[in-house]
Formats: sequence, C-alpha cells, structure tokens
Amino acid sequence: MNKPINEIIQGNTLDVLKTIESNFIDLSITSPPYNKQEKQKGWLVKNVKYDKFRDVLSEDEYQEEQIKVLNELYRITKPGGSLFYNHKIRWDIGQMYHPFSWLEKSLWTIRQEIIWDRMIAANIRGWRFWQVDERIYWLYKPINNNKIGEELESRHALLTSIWRFSPERNNPHPAPFPITLPVRIISSILNDNDAIVLDPYSGSGTTLVAAQLLGKKYLGIDISEEYIQYSNNRLLNSVLEKKEVEKELEKHLVQKTFKQRKTNGENVGKFQTNIQKEEKIKFATGKLDF
Ligand SMILES: C[S@@+](CC[C@H](N)C(=O)[O-])C[C@H]1O[C@@H](n2cnc3c(N)ncnc32)[C@H](O)[C@@H]1O
Repeated sequence: MNKPINEIIQGNTLDVLKTIESNFIDLSITSPPYNKQEKQKGWLVKNVKYDKFRDVLSEDEYQEEQIKVLNELYRITKPGGSLFYNHKIRWDIGQMYHPFSWLEKSLWTIRQEIIWDRMIAANIRGWRFWQVDERIYWLYKPINNNKIGEELESRHALLTSIWRFSPERNNPHPAPFPITLPVRIISSILNDNDAIVLDPYSGSGTTLVAAQLLGKKYLGIDISEEYIQYSNNRLLNSVLEKKEVEKELEKHLVQKTFKQRKTNGENVGKFQTNIQKEEKIKFATGKLDF
C-alpha cells in the first residue's frame, strides 16, 4: 500500500484510491464530474466537455461508482478526518437527482450541507426558478463512533452555511471551482501543517494550490495528463495566487471560540433584553453602579 505525497497521480480515481494506505489522508476536497450527459447548457455558459473522459453514464451506474469512490475515500481517511464534496441537484426530463440519495448510502457521516450561492445560473430557461446554487457536503469520519466531532472556532463558523462567491472564470479547465472554496475549508478545518489534503478529481489543481499556499501537503488524482501538466505548472507558480488566498483569510476574523466567550461571560449570541444590553455597556465602560 502506498503513501504518496505532494504529487498528482494520473489514472482512474477508484483504481488509484485502492492502492493507497488506510487512515492516511486528513482532509479531501473535491468536485466529481456531475454526469451531465454533455448536454447543451443554455446561452450563458459553455458546455462542459472534459479532455480524457465522457460524462455520460446511466444515472444508476454513476451513483454506484460515486458510492464506491466515497467508500474508498472513507477507508483512506484518518478517523476525525473529513471530505468536502461539491455537487448539485440535477434534473433529467423532470426527474430530480439529489446528491443526498447516494451520499446516505455511503459510509460517511453527513455533518453539514452548505449552500454555495454562485450568483449566476447555468441555464436561464423558465422551467423552474434559476438555479444559482450548488451544494458542498461536509462528510465526517467519526472517532470511536462520536459523530459530532470537534467544535469549529467561531471565526470560521461565523461564515455561516451559505457561501456566496462566483465561479472561477480565469481558468482553461471546463469546470474548475474558485480557490476561495478550498482555502475556506482548509483554513477552517486544519491547523496541523503535516496534514495531507487530497483531491481525487483534481482537474486544474485548485485544491492542491490552496493546500500548498496554506503550508499543507497535497495529493491529486486525475485521468487527464493535460490537466495534470497544467496543475503542476500552477503549483510551481502558486505565489501568483497568494492574494486570492489572503482575501479569503481576512474574512475569518473573530478570534475566540464559543466556549471561551461563554467562560468569559461574553456574548454568545443568546437573546438579551435591552436592559441587560445597557447594563453590559455600562459595565464595560465603567459606568455601572453596584
Ligand atoms: C469537475 S472537474 C474538477 C475540477 C477541479 N475542482 C478544479 O478546480 O479544477 C472533474 C475532474 O475529474 C476528472 N475525472 C473524471 N473522471 C475521472 C476518473 N474516473 N478518474 C480520475 N479523474 C477523473 C476530469 O478529468 C476532471 O478534471
């Protein structure tokens, strides 16, 4: 069994994952192909067509394959580790396919569903309200069956369960996500610099560049040599993307954990009457009489 680090492996993800040692990865972030059948998307957005494979499985085959990939990812993730899985709700001739239907069949604990508001719709026909959202599932591998895990520091948690930023535009890959996405995840979840971040469908290498700039180790897998070459080049020049990373980190502002604020008697977001608030202000400014 292999322990690859700081490289991108070319191959079919499921085959490659099977060669990797169990309990090895700390965090994975990925956006798999969506099985979009390569259909015309509408006027606004280009059709998604990949270099080395066709996104045209039957829906049953697709979901079965995704469950196998998810379960291999679970095996190679350390207990207490996470997978952030970006996907979306799809429709095919009126039939809705929701990622939850195959995620709940995998081994992972579903810790949160995050809405990514991309602020632009891929298809602007009027069959339904314009779909501007994608989803990011935080999937968790419990330690000793504890499905809750550790508390996030509030400076991250305050970013809420709705993430609002645009899709990536300056990238020749047909379906990249913006670097803000993996930067937000890595900086919120991983403090340990020895940690390894994996993207099993690494595409143009966005997750890997984010991991490198945040001082973590990375591992990528993709079927396309062309995308791997592009990613390696991006990793060599990652300093050019530092500004984008800093822009995201500035949003993680509040310093104390919920527990620290509670212990100090500071605001924990609980309802307060106006009188209580006034008293707190007077106390803080030294104007409260005892
Ligand atoms: C949605 S893209 C990922 C884009 C990436 N998040 C980025 O920011 O560039 C999906 C990627 O999966 C790769 N891919 C598709 N099927 C694969 C398979 N069976 N094994 C490995 N890679 C695959 C495609 O080549 C494509 O680059």
